[in-house]
Amino acid sequence: MKRRVTKAIFPVAGLGTRFLPATKSVPKEIMTLVDRPLIQYAIDEARAAGIKEFIFVTSRGKSALEDYFDHAPELEASLRKKGKTELLETLKSTNMESGAIAYIRQHKALGLGHAVWCARRLIADEPFAVILPDDVIAAEKPCLQQMTEAYEDTGGCMVAAMEVPPEKASAYGVLDVKEDMGSLVAVKGMVEKPKADEAPSNLAVIGRYILTPDVLKNLNRMKSGSGGEIQLTDAIADELSAERNVYGLRFRGQRFDCGSKAGFLQATVAFGLARDELKTELSEYLEQMVAQQKAAQ
Ligand code: UTP
Repeated sequence: MKRRVTKAIFPVAGLGTRFLPATKSVPKEIMTLVDRPLIQYAIDEARAAGIKEFIFVTSRGKSALEDYFDHAPELEASLRKKGKTELLETLKSTNMESGAIAYIRQHKALGLGHAVWCARRLIADEPFAVILPDDVIAAEKPCLQQMTEAYEDTGGCMVAAMEVPPEKASAYGVLDVKEDMGSLVAVKGMVEKPKADEAPSNLAVIGRYILTPDVLKNLNRMKSGSGGEIQLTDAIADELSAERNVYGLRFRGQRFDCGSKAGFLQATVAFGLARDELKTELSEYLEQMVAQQKAAQ
């Protein structure tokens, strides 16, 4: 029988301090790349991977997210009246089937591991995906789909992995590799934000996971880790101590760290250039800007 993953957790309860003051009233996940909020990219990727149940772990001030996935009868009626069928079609991707989406509150930002644990009762006893919407991945085949396909053969836990320059490794969870099988690696250890000279490799974990319910049990221990937070990496590493398998998948695609300003701006340019209606005007502008910068130096 094929292993299927049909539930995904979207932890969106972080404070988003790197985008203050904007995130004082706008959830980071509602910030837009071109014309779509970050959360829409995450939902589309999950749908492509066969996810049917979407669980959001939210916090105070995130109600804009709930509204985003609700129907907007007045807006829809007005567009219909004006014959704007294309825009109506665009809105469809924001609509969720009743009961397919659930919101759970994380009352205090105690860390990503804690946020995932908050959804434990909705996951019960099946494998599940975790998607961090601030990691946006441009890929021919959506990243989570690459992972669910690989997971059908491997089982266990799987994290999305990416080579980073060694000096950047201490900003990530880093894999200690047991066996390198090309795109797939078997893992023997994981360290969250290792010190510069202590990273076991330069293979970093980014925000896509397929996890077994055992990870939720590990999170029951509420062990605080790097930065005093309850880390998801530690709960996955506990699986290795229990001699259960963890894999990393070097996905094909380009990841943008939209939780950082530089990453968000890069993604805006990349997704803008990928749009037929924008690419000519935008690339001309960028060329002009670069020429002006060079001339000013
Ligand atoms: P980040 O480390 O990017 O934290 O969280 P943040 O609060 O969103 O942003 P900064 O660093 O203050 O700017 C990574 C992911 O984990 C979620 C965040 O919402 C984000 O999707 N998270 C983090 C939680 O849901 N709860 C937490 O307690 C911590």
